[in-house]
Amino acid sequence: MKKIALTGIKPTGILHIGNYFGAIKPALALAQEYDARYFIADYHALNTVKNAQELSANIREVAAGWLAAGLDPERVIFYRQSSIPETFELTALLTAFTSKGLMNRAHAYKAAVQDNLEKQDDPDAGINMGLFTYPILMAADILLFDSDLVPVGKDQVQHVEMAQDIAQSVNFTYKADILKVPQAAVQESVAVVPGLDGRKMSKSYGNAIPLFAPEKQLRKLILRIVTNSQGIEEPKDPETSQIFLLYRLFATAQEQEALAKRYREGGMGWGEAKEELFRVINRELSPLRTRFEEIMANPAALDATLARGADRARPIAAATVRRFRKAAGID
Ligand code: TRP
Repeated sequence: MKKIALTGIKPTGILHIGNYFGAIKPALALAQEYDARYFIADYHALNTVKNAQELSANIREVAAGWLAAGLDPERVIFYRQSSIPETFELTALLTAFTSKGLMNRAHAYKAAVQDNLEKQDDPDAGINMGLFTYPILMAADILLFDSDLVPVGKDQVQHVEMAQDIAQSVNFTYKADILKVPQAAVQESVAVVPGLDGRKMSKSYGNAIPLFAPEKQLRKLILRIVTNSQGIEEPKDPETSQIFLLYRLFATAQEQEALAKRYREGGMGWGEAKEELFRVINRELSPLRTRFEEIMANPAALDATLARGADRARPIAAATVRRFRKAAGID
């Protein structure tokens, strides 16, 4: 039997090129090898996104984005977390096996408390129970589907380790393998995608290139990439140029070599390098953008795709909850 890979996608904003290389492409590659279960973690997003229209739009856009990028919903079970009520039943069951101390140690919660202390505010200011219990909901997402492997970014590894702890505590209590203990998979080899200002591309830095930006906007953003003041004639170092680092992600080996040569020879200004970057990015992204627009134009079909995914996911989830309740004497 194939092993199971599962990951959650938090719909908190529009997808950008950093997400594409850091999360989407690696997860789609993994889906070739594993039995993949990928979902939109809309309840996790609720902790921070309180505007209903915004959340609802984010959910659809992020789902459409993954489909446009090549997620095959026949192969991958693709669903919304909110469509699986067993998630919330398992969350409730797991709270009885999760020590408060474990939650106190979660990085995201600790950082929020630290922030408050630095501002000389109440340590609990602005912290809701959704943030505090975030790792339990995430453990339920993972443990519900017998996941072997959980591809995540570095910041989420601690949460997967907490899911391991919680699963082990359940299994230990009932002296049986009720929940499968998952492993985190961090994509170490993925290059850091530089943003417009040279820092790592991130929504929170405001330096991101949206994955589905219309052609004109894409070009404009690329022209905004910060460069140094080297003149056209000066030889330039490709390795320290974020234009080149971005180029590498989209260009063929031959194209990379050719552009690196032009950098080193001098005679090429930053403007020209940016045009060349725009050309290769647009070449790769324009078919995705077209698919994205098609999917977004038909929300009923998108909802139906997600509902089919939920139909496939629910029996698996229900079996896990049944197993747990039986072991716990609540059957
Ligand atoms: N917390 C993850 C993030 O912020 C999203 C997520 C929710 C998730 N549930 C999950 C990831 C389960 C992996 C497995 O990116």
